[in-house]
Parts: sequence; structure tokens; C-alpha cells
Amino acid sequence: MKRITIRKGFDAHMHLRDGVMMSDVLPFTTNQFAGGVAMGNLPGNEVLDSFEKNLAYLEKIKALAPSFNAVVPLMVTRELLGRASYIVKTALKHGIKVFKFIPAGLTTNGAEGLTLYDLYTNPFTELLEELEENGIIFSCHFEVGTSRIHDDAPVQMLWQEQEAIRFLQYLLEVYPKLKIVVEHASSYAMIYFIEKLPEKYQVAATLTPHHAIVNYWDVCNPDGNIYEPLKYCKPVAKQEQDINVVKLAMCSGNPRFFAGTDSAPHLYGIKLSQKSAGIFSAPVAMQTYTEIFEQLGRMEYLENFTSVFGPQFYGFQPSDEKITLVKEQERVASSLYDIPVFRGGDVIPWSIIK
Ligand code: NCD
Ligand code: ZN
Repeated sequence: MKRITIRKGFDAHMHLRDGVMMSDVLPFTTNQFAGGVAMGNLPGNEVLDSFEKNLAYLEKIKALAPSFNAVVPLMVTRELLGRASYIVKTALKHGIKVFKFIPAGLTTNGAEGLTLYDLYTNPFTELLEELEENGIIFSCHFEVGTSRIHDDAPVQMLWQEQEAIRFLQYLLEVYPKLKIVVEHASSYAMIYFIEKLPEKYQVAATLTPHHAIVNYWDVCNPDGNIYEPLKYCKPVAKQEQDINVVKLAMCSGNPRFFAGTDSAPHLYGIKLSQKSAGIFSAPVAMQTYTEIFEQLGRMEYLENFTSVFGPQFYGFQPSDEKITLVKEQERVASSLYDIPVFRGGDVIPWSIIK
């Protein structure tokens, strides 16, 4: 039977939530990955935008999974801005090497009152200067909800990432040494932009399993309304040409692209009633990545994508732990702890050997 053994991976973008939900979902991530970046937009509008909250959260993860290499970014909010030099110095003292920004209104629990337009103005500019100078990673959700070129008209979901490329371009022009992670790149335009950047820029992008599989038309009507909330995440799934480019970038062997599942658990009821954005993919992430690499005949590049390029960008040694996947069919549970699971109910070709 076909099997593959590689270094255990690094999930550069996932959501572990808090409390009971954290203890429920964390084992799925640790089963798949040796480490990862746990995002600090927690349930109930709680955001890890202070050192106290950030470090306490890291301790919680460590208590549940001591050997998991967890990175918890400091979330950029209005509260955090304004004391850039102090904040960055203190972050470094505490070993925090990643700052994360989720613009308001675009996805679950974004930074209230801040959008990508704020990147152009103080106090954000001061923070960016400090991040650049101190080699701290700026991990950013590049989507924009309105276009000032068009009188603040709303930008349709499908185009919100593409429209945000100019903000990335601005960051590169003004802060050429800033280390940037473009989270969950999902449009061909963004991926091409990143692929074509000169080598001197330290820009990378995480790629999710669902953006390599789910099609926009499986989620939204032609009028842009969501009819399948279980497949809804932000950035929204794109179209066939984008899906192909996500897969090609994933399997390209280009170190600018690495794994970041954006696994984002939401309870069934809330997902259906509120159409909350987020897909819980932790139980099937490695199986899905493996399936895609096999499909494209690029199995020899899988390990770099899941386990080497990410740690390299974040400045870690890749894990020495191993994971083995075997080509044996598995039926995915529809839900776990009342959380709908990505590909739930499907029979998938690869499984993880326990
Ligand atoms: C994420 C979540 O649920 O926290 N949702 C999502 O659709 N990806 C937030 C995020 O990463 O944008
Ligand atoms: Zn996310």
C-alpha cells in the first residue's frame, strides 16, 4: 500500500479558540502538526492584544500540549497601537515574533475600527517601521471591504483579496525589509503577485486545504448570498482558475508558499444561524494536502510545503518528529463535538497512521 513518511508539519495559521472548545479541537491539530501559529481572535470578541492575555493563552496551549511548538501572535488592535517602540521591545523580550492583523468587518472578530486603509496612517505606520527594524513578522489578512477608488463602494466578497493587493504593494515599497505573511492566499491574482516578487522581499503566503478544493459557486448564489454556510470561510472560496493556481503554488516547491490550514471551528448552530465564517479542517488537513500533492504528481515536495518552508520563515528548526500517511480510504465524520468538519461525510483517499 502506498505510504509516505515525512517530518511532522507546522500549521502557520489556525484557530484553537478557548476553554472547552480548545481542549476539544487541539488534539486534532497536534495529531497532524508538530507546531503552529494559533490566532488570537477568540470567541466573544476577546482578542489577544495585550502581553498578559497573549502569554496566558500560550500557557494554556502548553498545559494541554507541552511538546507542541505553539506560536501566539500579538493581535493588532486600536488598544495596541500608539506605543510602537515600547510594544515591540516588550514583545521581543517575551519572545513574541509575530504580530497579526485582521481588518474589521471582513471575518470573525476583526480589529474593530481598523481596515487596511489604516496601514497608511499613524500610529500604524510607526508600528510597521518598528516591526521592519526588528525583524518581526507581520501576518495579515489581506482583504478589503470597500474601494476608495470607487467612492467607498462595497467590494464583492469574491474580489476582496484581489483588491487588497495594492496594500501589499504599498507595504513593500515603504517597508521593503518587513517580513510579511499573506494569510490564506486564495486568488490567482494575489498568488501571481507574490510569485513574481523579486527575491529580496521577505514575503510568504499560507495556503489552506479548503481553498484548493471548495468552489465559490458551492457557497454563494450569483447574487453573492451564502446558501451553504458550512462551506463558508473568509476569504471566501474562489473559482476554478483560482483553485488551480492555489494547487500549483502549493506543489511548486517555492519556499514562499507553505501550509496554514486556517482551521477555524464554529459550532453547528451558530454556523447555520449566523453564517459565521470559518472551516474546521484540522481533522483532515494533512490527508487533504497529501491528496493534492499526489494529484499533481508532486509528492516529493509535500514535506517542504507542510514541514520545512513554514518553520524556516518563522526561524525554527523543522520538527524531527515524523508522520506517516497511508493510501487507505477513510470516511470523515460529519461533525465532532457539534462542530461541522471540513469534508464531513466524504470518503477521502489518505489517512494518518496513528
Ligand atoms: C476565522 C475564524 O473563524 O476565526 N474565519 C475564517 O473564515 N477564516 C477568522 C479568519 O481567519 O479570518
Ligand atoms: Zn484564520
